[in-house]
Amino acid sequence: MKNTTSTILQAKENGNKIAMLTAYDYSTAKLLDEAGVHMILVGDSLGNVILGYEDTISVTMEDMIHHCAAVARGAGQAMVVCDMPFMSYQTGVYDAVVNAGRLMKEGRAQAVKLEGGKEVCPQIQAIVSASIPVVAHLGLTPQSINAFGGYKVQGKTEAAARKLIEDAKAVEAAGAFAVVLECVPAKLAKLVTESVHIPTIGIGAGPDCDGQVLVYQDMLGMFTDYKPKFVKQYANVGAIIKDAVRTYMNEIQEGSFPAEEHSYKIDDEVIGKLY
Ligand code: KIV
Repeated sequence: MKNTTSTILQAKENGNKIAMLTAYDYSTAKLLDEAGVHMILVGDSLGNVILGYEDTISVTMEDMIHHCAAVARGAGQAMVVCDMPFMSYQTGVYDAVVNAGRLMKEGRAQAVKLEGGKEVCPQIQAIVSASIPVVAHLGLTPQSINAFGGYKVQGKTEAAARKLIEDAKAVEAAGAFAVVLECVPAKLAKLVTESVHIPTIGIGAGPDCDGQVLVYQDMLGMFTDYKPKFVKQYANVGAIIKDAVRTYMNEIQEGSFPAEEHSYKIDDEVIGKLY
């Protein structure tokens, strides 16, 4: 069964946890989908893990559409959510609706995600009014990295914690059907989760969120430039790739690859005439 806004909202009502992972290409999306992940996020983290930028600021609409369309072709039952990149919605309601529409029409996303609380509620409302489902993103919002002055845990003071709860209620009231909580103390994330009817999806926000999301390169040991505290590495695919590549190089050197089973045949009579 295809996951939709209804199945995701239902999951919270039924107390079933939601599993979300990022993907940026067709073959990875297919693998995650076949494994049964409920939601695939085409995150603007592709700026870091795919394009090698130091942050997400330079990611463009064209980048997001290109990768989202590839993911959408690989996703079957998983719901595909695409990030709205920096300055594709902050500039106003009109830009937000036009760009969200492009991610749906050209990227074939089923929902868009954008960062921010009360300040982006007019955008959320307008996008939802255009029949485009929205996931909100609170806490550490990487597009605001220059305003934050670094990647820090959010909501630690009473005022900041109260603001986070108010923002979660505001994005719900504006029409978001889920909210990502990034780098938020676990007890505060629990309180937020109990304060809204929409599912919370945590990344560095403890076990009491309604779901979890990780960047797949992080959880598979494929990206080692830095490792946030909240990442659990479930496999070391990076080491497997390096081992396989070294074996491939050795076999080329010693002449054992390609073997007969990897080679094409030609009639001896034909080849004989060429000598
Ligand atoms: O871009 C991304 O991958 C994200 C997740 C970290 C939630 O926004």
